[in-house]
Amino acid sequence: MQETTLTRGNLEETQEAYQKHIMATYARFPVVFERGEGPYLWSTNGRRYLDFLAGIAVNAVGHCHPRVVEAIQKQAACLIHVSNLYHISQQAELAQTLCRLSGMEKAFFANSGAEANEAAIKIARKLGRSIREDKTALVGAEGSFHGRTLGTLSLTGQEKYQKPYEPLVPDCSIVPWNDIGALETAVSGRTCAIVLEPIQGEGGVRPADPEYLQAARELADRHEALLIFDEVQTGCGRTGTFFAFQGYGVTPDILTVAKAMGGGFPIGGCLARGRAAEVFQPGDHGTTYGGGPLACAAALAALKVIEQEGLVDNARKMGRLLEEELRSLNPPCGVREVRGKGLMLAMVLEQPVARDVLNAAFEEGLLINAIGTDVLRFLPPLIIGEDHISECLELLKKAFARTGA
Ligand SMILES: Cc1ncc(COP(=O)(O)O)c(C=O)c1O
Repeated sequence: MQETTLTRGNLEETQEAYQKHIMATYARFPVVFERGEGPYLWSTNGRRYLDFLAGIAVNAVGHCHPRVVEAIQKQAACLIHVSNLYHISQQAELAQTLCRLSGMEKAFFANSGAEANEAAIKIARKLGRSIREDKTALVGAEGSFHGRTLGTLSLTGQEKYQKPYEPLVPDCSIVPWNDIGALETAVSGRTCAIVLEPIQGEGGVRPADPEYLQAARELADRHEALLIFDEVQTGCGRTGTFFAFQGYGVTPDILTVAKAMGGGFPIGGCLARGRAAEVFQPGDHGTTYGGGPLACAAALAALKVIEQEGLVDNARKMGRLLEEELRSLNPPCGVREVRGKGLMLAMVLEQPVARDVLNAAFEEGLLINAIGTDVLRFLPPLIIGEDHISECLELLKKAFARTGA
């Protein structure tokens, strides 16, 4: 067998190998990063980037936070993996921490957001069927995003993601977002769960109206269905409360978490209370890797950093400042709206130039994200200060100027 000859870090060689050997699931920027620190990334050609996307809401504590690095190093040196057939202390401690922070009672740990949502869906189906045989209907919202597995895709209200994979999981319906009437029509005695993001992320940073979440809570109660909040993107302080539901004052029966929880290390969690917390019994659900000692040690360190460094308050304060600054920007293409909560913000442009601005921002050394043709999304690490916001705005101004938009 021929040995590989790729020079690690070399952009051209990496791109060539991607073309040849990596399935084309992403349109990638022409860069290879080799180092990260706080809100900055460095490419292999020595360029520094201000990261206001944070691995799509993953790097909440910044890149390579020393306490997360230390926890991973220490844990890796003594035990990386052990099966869920045994007790894992770090997993128990992480469950305690998350239950304290959320008010939930029990956790199931997986490796990603989609898997955390799959667990939630399975709890809802099993509990529903124990109430009545046909209580299997799931209701999700238009514009939502819950993951790429067939189950989570079936509740992801975006045709472009669903269409190629039909037929999807049966008995899933999608209702217009923030429309209480539509939700009332869709939910019945056959509904086992309503699944919502308190603030839709991939759908363009669209916050739920408080009355909408309240109505969902009441409908779920009336029909003996579960209310599931997907906080994979909104969780762990991003929106200025530890979980977004706490800012709304509407408590779900199941809460899913991932992304920021591991400080960059993959882990997802499905947290539940009441009857939902008691559904799974041995053999009902499982995972080889989920809740392993290494992932849990990383998550424990990341959650400690978020709590002890006051990052939830910082997200709220810096979120307000970034929102004001984005509002004060007045690019020729026009800004329709700046929306979101905490450090989960979107700038909606009046013209379909978001991709051009995104590419220009990359050229200027700023990492952000575009949704559709007119939305720019900002998900910086929660550790940022005023100086980082000023730097972002300067780079963004240059990006607008570069595109002429
Ligand atoms: C709200 C929400 N749920 C679920 C997911 C899926 O998470 P993962 O990619 O870790 O499976 C995402 C990912 O973007 C998300 O934003």
